[in-house]
Amino acid sequence: MTQSLPTVNYDILVIGSGAAGLTLALKTADFARVAVLSKGELSQGATFYAQGGIAAVLDEDDSIDAHVADTLVAGVGLCHPEVVSNIVENSTDSVSWLVDQGVPFTTMTGGIVADTSTSLDSLHLTKEGGHSHRRIIHASDATGKAVFETLKNRALAHPNITLLEGYTAVDLITHCGASGEKRCVGAYVLNQKTEAVESIGCKFVALATGGASKAYLYTSNPDGASGDGIAMAWRAGCSVANMEFNQFHPTCLYHPHAKSFLITEALRGEGAILELPDGTRFMPHFDAREELAPRDIVARAIDHEMKRLGCDCVYLNITHKPADFIRDHFPNIYSRCLEFGIDITRDRIPVVPAAHYTCGGVVVNDRGMTDLTNLYAIGETSFTGLHGANRMASNSLLECFVIAFAAAKDIAERFDETKLANDIPNWDDSRVVDSDDEILVSHNWDELRRCMWDFVGIVRNDERLQRARRRIDLLQDEIIDYYSRHRVSNDLLELRNLVLVSSLIIDSALSRKESRGLHFTLDYPALADEARDTILHPQNG
Ligand code: FAD
Ligand code: SIN
Repeated sequence: MTQSLPTVNYDILVIGSGAAGLTLALKTADFARVAVLSKGELSQGATFYAQGGIAAVLDEDDSIDAHVADTLVAGVGLCHPEVVSNIVENSTDSVSWLVDQGVPFTTMTGGIVADTSTSLDSLHLTKEGGHSHRRIIHASDATGKAVFETLKNRALAHPNITLLEGYTAVDLITHCGASGEKRCVGAYVLNQKTEAVESIGCKFVALATGGASKAYLYTSNPDGASGDGIAMAWRAGCSVANMEFNQFHPTCLYHPHAKSFLITEALRGEGAILELPDGTRFMPHFDAREELAPRDIVARAIDHEMKRLGCDCVYLNITHKPADFIRDHFPNIYSRCLEFGIDITRDRIPVVPAAHYTCGGVVVNDRGMTDLTNLYAIGETSFTGLHGANRMASNSLLECFVIAFAAAKDIAERFDETKLANDIPNWDDSRVVDSDDEILVSHNWDELRRCMWDFVGIVRNDERLQRARRRIDLLQDEIIDYYSRHRVSNDLLELRNLVLVSSLIIDSALSRKESRGLHFTLDYPALADEARDTILHPQNG
């Protein structure tokens, strides 16, 4: 039966309620009616779990040039320098805005303040890998939670913002105008309560759906990181870039019951060292920056040592610091580790690398505009050119704010001239049946994530990538076939998106015949002379 639910209209549909989505909503809600979707609870995205902080030039000894230079070095020649400059130059404005919103950042005196009059030079700055200065503002070791809660409460209080939990965007709706120009006019959205797919019409859609690290078996990311925005944009005809650069965070807690728990890089910034099981320090053999080398280097060094010794993990040791210092700076990590019987003031922390961040994504310009008219992509789902071949720590949240501000400005300028579409077709599920074999979906989830971990991980080669290619092709055929015959569910939608995104990662990895940053292949260990983005176009795919 074809559903005949009326189309619900807003001015702006923001898909995603993390740092990027909530910022865009707050920046546009004074002139527009905005709906913000989250497929789970509003807190489901990576933002809520961010620990270390937000990179910004606030120290008088620091400079825009130094932050730009560090980002370019971490990105191994592939960052777009003009994009890096733009984002770094806007870092202070972003932090000022967050302080104005009431985010309780940690100050020099150690206290946490929620006072909007806090001056920026009183904020405490910590350090992370790749940064030549202390420049990470933070709210203790749970920065993302503080940012999320503050922005969510602001959004809840705004009369023009509707927050919709438990709504999964399925696909974008596009129209071709008389001039032949294709534009985005809304999205089909699964209401998880009613299990019906509803149509939302709007003038502008913003994808703020986060990354795709769930493509890997082991990840620091929450469950929803299935690359939905990248997959929806691709199906709607948008270009996608640099998907081979999936970042692995060097230090996730290794414990059978600690699913996805990150041990922030700020621990190394405050002096923690990495050790082999026998207590030997190893990072000095790999890089002069030791534990504070960029992430690709540290993760690869750990992977190398684990394979060389056949050990299950390495150890992060901060026990040489005073116990009060550790508890004050890292209360969240201290108490979480204690739940697993690890007292980080006395015990070493067992750690392993895990998939953490999608450096590639939907190609956008400096205002977050995609190839498709009226479609924006902001935050981790997008590719702006900031991160190059390896994102520097704490540059991600910064990018969320700066590009959301720019997208809001662009939408404001184009708001009056843009009209709502009035003929959006209903979702048609007249030829599908209820899903009757969930084991097919759950098995494919597991197989896909293991295949990506084993064959498209930290160290690659062509043989492993070709194996992955064949297996992912087969999975994709099965999943598309299942999708075409059954009613959609959240799991099925995520699986469909993940297999597509995995396929894009493999295509990108196979096409890069060099090792650069996060893409390290034994078949082409050297850096190519020319640094090039990998840009994939759906019409060629
Ligand atoms: P997210 O915060 O991931 O939000 C995605 C949103 O999209 C969610 O609301 C989700 O429900 C929604 N969504 C997804 N698909 C759909 C769909 N189909 N329909 C409806 N809704 C959908 N970066 C830093 O700069 N500093 C840090 O200290 C830091 N620490 C981190 C620690 C951890 C453990 C992790 C995982 C990441 C960390 N990062 C950090 C990275 C950073 O947190 C993320 O890149 C950033 O928060 C992404 O924000 P976002 O708004 O783009 O997406
Ligand atoms: C961390 O706190 O180590 C994560 C920081 C980031 O991903 O930018």
